[in-house]
Amino acid sequence: MKIGCPKEIKPQEFRVGMTPNAAREAIAHGHQVMIETGAGEGAGFPDADYVAVGAEIVATAEDVFAKAEMIVKVKEPQAAERARLREGQVLFTYLHLAPDPDQTHDLLKSGVTAIAYETVTDRSGGLPLLAPMSEVAGRLAPQVGAWTLQKANGGRGVLLGGVPGVTPAKVVVIGGGVVGTHAARVAAGMGADVTVLDRSLPRLRYLDDVFGREFKNGYASAGATADLVAEADMVIGAVLIPGAAAPKLVSKAQLSTMKPGAAIVDVAIDQGGCFETSRATTHQDPIYEVDGILHYCVANMPGAVARTSTLALGNATLPFLLALADKGWKQACADDPHLKAGLNTHAGKLTYAAVGEALGLPSITADAAIKM
Ligand SMILES: NC(=O)c1ccc[n+]([C@@H]2O[C@H](COP(=O)([O-])OP(=O)(O)OC[C@H]3O[C@@H](n4cnc5c(N)ncnc54)[C@H](O)[C@@H]3O)[C@@H](O)[C@H]2O)c1
Repeated sequence: MKIGCPKEIKPQEFRVGMTPNAAREAIAHGHQVMIETGAGEGAGFPDADYVAVGAEIVATAEDVFAKAEMIVKVKEPQAAERARLREGQVLFTYLHLAPDPDQTHDLLKSGVTAIAYETVTDRSGGLPLLAPMSEVAGRLAPQVGAWTLQKANGGRGVLLGGVPGVTPAKVVVIGGGVVGTHAARVAAGMGADVTVLDRSLPRLRYLDDVFGREFKNGYASAGATADLVAEADMVIGAVLIPGAAAPKLVSKAQLSTMKPGAAIVDVAIDQGGCFETSRATTHQDPIYEVDGILHYCVANMPGAVARTSTLALGNATLPFLLALADKGWKQACADDPHLKAGLNTHAGKLTYAAVGEALGLPSITADAAIKM
């Protein structure tokens, strides 16, 4: 199969859909890999690294889209990219169609077979192509929160780990899923006094079993959350209710109970955020202040560490990418119900019911699309 990987064009996106290692493995499977010149640069992979494993460097995105039978990307295709997609071509990338009618319309019009990273599933009911980015954002959260707490940024001037004779900072993590667990581990590793709150008792049992005394955990009742937030130097928002906007768990009025200069890192901002005062920010201007409390609410945190994020995403996408290339999308999806769950559009039909419901559009099943 001819596999094409264009350079990402969404502003501030430095990741790339295929690493040189992914290209090497695809080529070893007998496929042809075309990389747009400079596509890997933002993640620290020069063209030469791709050439060294046998990939072809292509001068323009136009050429990549025109020649490739499968396009592998990171972000949803932008309008200019959508115009280049065609029926019979496979697109493998993040799509997030439910809140995006324009993109959905363009993908349907193009006839492309689009497989969305975010809806591919795994045996335990998880989302294996979303998890790596949650791991990255979770581990990054205490790091950016620690920086936010520094005096020059308007923070409390508190060091997470304290020093001998000075108690460590108190960190509260609301939501103990993938983001929350990774955030808690790193904050605890930096020496902070960490408590994770969740509403799922099985999850709290898991955290207790696995992490023991590394960090504390508690049930996320409104009262317990309010008490802990009032005492915290840093609060990390990491809740998720699948398919829904994040619940607002800390109100504007509660900010007045917090310590002046405390930091909020709202990782759940991509789902609307779990603090009433959260609004999305960018890596250029990540922090703002409300009532003396600093808010860090960057919606694409993994972009700050594009190389790590590219490698982590590449590890997760590679087996699916190889299956799609080796067998063709129909056989690969017929053989693997988890990959099949990723199919969102095919030949002008929507193939993902939840997107149809969100946008008021008709959809067919993935099985029906495979039989077309
Ligand atoms: N900003 C970014 O760059 C970025 C990157 C990755 C993920 N995210 C977002 O981070 C959020 C968390 O993702 P995840 O992968 O950890 O999800 P997850 O499903 O693994 O974990 C979510 C946890 O929240 C808990 N929860 C739900 N409602 C709660 C409540 N009312 N109180 C306390 N806990 C509650 C759940 O029980 C679950 O354990 C999502 O919104 C995700 O989109 C953001």
